[in-house]
Amino acid sequence: MTIRRAAADDIEPALAVMSEAFGIELRAPTVHTLVASSPDGTLLVAEEDGVVVGTAASVTFGPSGWLGGITVAPSARGRGLGRALTEAAIDALGERETVLLLASTLGRPLYEKLGFEPEGLYRVFSSGAARPEKTVELRDVREEDREAVLALDRSATGEDRSLAVLASLEGAVATSDLSAVALRPPWGALPIVGDPAGATTLLASLIRPGLRVAVPEGNRAAVQLLQLLGREVEPVTRMRRGPALDWHPERVWGVFSLFFG
Ligand SMILES: CC(C)(COP(=O)(O)OP(=O)(O)OC[C@H]1O[C@@H](n2cnc3c(N)ncnc32)[C@H](O)[C@@H]1OP(=O)(O)O)[C@@H](O)C(=O)NCCC(=O)NCCS
Repeated sequence: MTIRRAAADDIEPALAVMSEAFGIELRAPTVHTLVASSPDGTLLVAEEDGVVVGTAASVTFGPSGWLGGITVAPSARGRGLGRALTEAAIDALGERETVLLLASTLGRPLYEKLGFEPEGLYRVFSSGAARPEKTVELRDVREEDREAVLALDRSATGEDRSLAVLASLEGAVATSDLSAVALRPPWGALPIVGDPAGATTLLASLIRPGLRVAVPEGNRAAVQLLQLLGREVEPVTRMRRGPALDWHPERVWGVFSLFFG
């Protein structure tokens, strides 16, 4: 068994292992391929007899880092591979004050053994159709909004997520005063951060069938809106190792992925 960085040829088999493990169909580009191609990220694969049987990814956002995409093919489970992949992904982060992840029910016992503590749930919804009620004026995000959007994201998440934010500006929509922004990553997701009035309008207007949208349970208004707009599926647990971040769950209205919020 070897654990190593994914090469270009590994992307397709790695996404196949993840797709089976998560029960969703993942095709490039995904959040994992974004981190794999960035100096701030890593995608690892576990290979046995020339076949990819496990994956793990990590990304650094300055002093914090996230783990995600930790999967093992069903036939290779229960032999310590999930743990070895998680430890390797943590090593790839280098020294970080805080490491975070969003745990599935299957993943949680593994992370608890590695010292991660639960911080609260992210409620997950499979979305339905939009209900546009434009109570707040919206506009496209422009090149000159870049710094303001990055600052808005930092104020909501307590992290410097420039890598993901900058990859998602094309087609992004904001309130005219930039108090809330909906980002457009090149994969199916609708990350939204900002003030409730604008974020509500953005979420209700831009949601579309087939998206999986997750919000922190601390954002009650977002949970209530998504109960109207989608069908709730199994939640994930935000887990942390290290000091808490200065983040504001009530300003997070949709995540980039179930890899990082
Ligand atoms: C979660 C997953 C990666 C674990 O892979 P694995 O190779 O079976 O895990 P390991 O064999 O390394 O087990 C790790 C530890 O967790 C424990 N563990 C694993 N599954 C468990 C379960 N269902 N209940 C309780 N403990 C469990 C093991 O006992 C082991 O503890 P130990 O190291 O002290 O012996 C795998 O089940 C998977 O791919 N699941 C689907 C995708 C998923 O949910 N990934 C997690 C995303 S957050």
